[in-house]
Amino acid sequence: MNASMPSIPIARPALGDQEAAALRRVIQSGWVTQGPEVAAFENEFANFVGAAHACAVSNCTTALHLALKAVGVVAGDEVITVSHSFIATANAIRYCDALPVFVDIEADGYNIDPNLIEAAITPRTKAILCVHQLGMPCDLRAIVEIGKRHSIPVIEDAACASGSEILWDGQWEKIGKPHGDIACFSFHPRKVITTGDGGMLTTSSPEYDRKFRLWRQHGMSVTDTTRHGSKQVIFEDYDELGYNYRMTDLQAAIGREQLRRLPGLVRERRQLAEAYREHLSSLDLTLPIEPSWARSNWQSFCVGLPLQMDQRTVMQMLLDQGISTRRGIMNIHLEKAYCSQGSHRVATRLTRSVSAQERTIILPLFSRMTDIELSRVAEALRQNFAAAMTDAPLLLS
Ligand SMILES: Cc1ncc(COP(=O)(O)O)c(C=O)c1O
Repeated sequence: MNASMPSIPIARPALGDQEAAALRRVIQSGWVTQGPEVAAFENEFANFVGAAHACAVSNCTTALHLALKAVGVVAGDEVITVSHSFIATANAIRYCDALPVFVDIEADGYNIDPNLIEAAITPRTKAILCVHQLGMPCDLRAIVEIGKRHSIPVIEDAACASGSEILWDGQWEKIGKPHGDIACFSFHPRKVITTGDGGMLTTSSPEYDRKFRLWRQHGMSVTDTTRHGSKQVIFEDYDELGYNYRMTDLQAAIGREQLRRLPGLVRERRQLAEAYREHLSSLDLTLPIEPSWARSNWQSFCVGLPLQMDQRTVMQMLLDQGISTRRGIMNIHLEKAYCSQGSHRVATRLTRSVSAQERTIILPLFSRMTDIELSRVAEALRQNFAAAMTDAPLLLS
């Protein structure tokens, strides 16, 4: 790498003066958790996605845990999902002592193949946990219909999908509306909007929302704001096991600023994704497909490599030029934490999931990425294309 050339990260949070001012406001207010900023962020997020309820939590993993608990997943139950996801998707199922049941992804994308779901259903199936992977909406219409047909709740792992949209009955609607029973979001710094860490649950069910609020705060019968504002002494009760899954007001204040910026951030990312398409169209890469009924927030731009190209080699070549990439989305069933019997069930062949992990790379894409930076990534790929090829097609492990 040319020493004068700045490196290009895989992602960069879009945080600025507004977020800093919001933090100052909270610090000066003296109320730093489960207070007015959290309530305001919840209202604004609910309005943004068009959901009746939104409940803020500490991250998306805790959101998934509460969602699964709310729909009644308990020990011994099965939850259908993908192995091709961040490990938290399946971990949340295991927190309920339930079994993740893995099905493969579709042939032309990185989301669950709805055609494989029904064959994986057993009498023990308690939920379908679909993922809007990399911000690209999965085929929710088909999945929700399967859920309805079998009376199985659908939970959306929308960790990556703040600002993504889906065409629903002729209207573009935000992911999180929710079209399934509950949607769970992440505000980790790799996502389009961030609160450092953070999560949100959206639902149309007041009962689910009530449970989320109870469980996120140790199962405490009275909220902090109620107790604080009461003219009478109140003693709280703890009737069921709860957790500390709270979001702080510091995080929520940042989240409110981020949410205001979200439409602009998504517009900017769409332009970057388009620019990648133009720059990369002449290379033998499989570019991501956006179905006609989906609008990605372009959290990530994932490209498929030709069969002869070695993934690690090309990633290293780019890193040597100061360009960070990531391998395709992991496969949970291949990790040691999932090697024991009873940790999961594989319901279909997972060939496409494994192939996507081994044969794709994620390119840098972030707010305020310049034309020069994007061209540098494309040019580095072009220059190293031939050198990263092996003679024989690589076999999948
Ligand atoms: C698909 C998916 N699900 C769940 C999570 C977990 O989110 P968090 O880190 O907010 O717990 C992530 C985070 O990267 C994710 O990508």
